[in-house]
Amino acid sequence: MTSFTEALNSASRTGDSPGLQKNPLPSGAGAGGSDILQTPPPALEVKDVSKAFTHRRRTTPVLNQVSLTVRQQEFVSIVGPSGCGKSTLFHIIGGLTLPDSGTVSMNGQTVTGQRGNISYMPQQPALFPWRSIEDNVLLAGELMGEPQAAARENARRWLTKVGLGGFEKAYPHMLSGGMQQRAAFLRALLAPQELMLLDEPFSALDALTRSDMQRWLLELWEENRRSVLFITHNIEEALLLSSRIYVFSGRPGSVLHSVDVPFPRPRREEITDTPEFLQMRRQLSQWMREEQAKGRN
Ligand SMILES: Nc1ncnc2c1ncn2[C@@H]1O[C@H](COP(=O)(O)OP(=O)(O)OP(=O)(O)O)[C@@H](O)[C@H]1O
Ligand SMILES: [Mg+2]
Repeated sequence: MTSFTEALNSASRTGDSPGLQKNPLPSGAGAGGSDILQTPPPALEVKDVSKAFTHRRRTTPVLNQVSLTVRQQEFVSIVGPSGCGKSTLFHIIGGLTLPDSGTVSMNGQTVTGQRGNISYMPQQPALFPWRSIEDNVLLAGELMGEPQAAARENARRWLTKVGLGGFEKAYPHMLSGGMQQRAAFLRALLAPQELMLLDEPFSALDALTRSDMQRWLLELWEENRRSVLFITHNIEEALLLSSRIYVFSGRPGSVLHSVDVPFPRPRREEITDTPEFLQMRRQLSQWMREEQAKGRN
């Protein structure tokens, strides 16, 4: 599906986001004309992040010493029980919330508390009610100063691809929850930043649309690898899409397991029937059940 690539190419062509460079030279490299290839710093590195919220003199620890890495052009997922701090972690990475301790780095630079470095799809679609669907989808590019006409044409093509053709001029309240989610996903996808944070992007979609979107995202990522951190409650989805999965404990969330997903790429849905896949799914489901059970005790 070439249009996936086209869309991303056209997005990344204009994507000179502040503080983000594609594969910048690691510090110390390059001086003296060295052409030795070194591993670039990770797209995202979260180090020892802790966070507690205080409400009416009651303090609730939400994240405990969380460390995780998304390497350049890697697809990484987080799974964990409800309320364990996954969305809070995204707010911290996006600079919307400050951690109590720990740091967030992108491409080797500390960016804790800084905004504007990521493309972000929040758990609640959060479309602007006064902008049409098309204008909502265009927003991120507009903020980054993308040329209007080409971006608009690109957005229209994509809206059709995700089943929102004919709704370009509609306003968010005229769309179902699932349609709003698709529009919000598209807005994140067409944003020019290299690192995408997707917070349960497909949770409001019916099984068929969800499976379509997963396939598209997989193709998109395999053709034009961006760095992605993805939250989902769906273990099968995490296994199908990711190179690595972080399993979080119940609140306060900490990293219980980091699982490398070995299936070769390009991946297709058929892998979900293989014994290896089923075994990994069983193991992850068991860990999740154990964590959920602890939360109920
Ligand atoms: N701004 C805030 N002020 C106070 N408490 C907050 C705030 N944001 C989140 N919390 C609390 O932090 C905890 C973690 O919330 P968070 O939304 O990060 O969980 P989650 O892992 O994303 O859950 P879910 O899977 O249900 O989306 C919850 O107990 C929530 O009430
Ligand atoms: Mg959440």
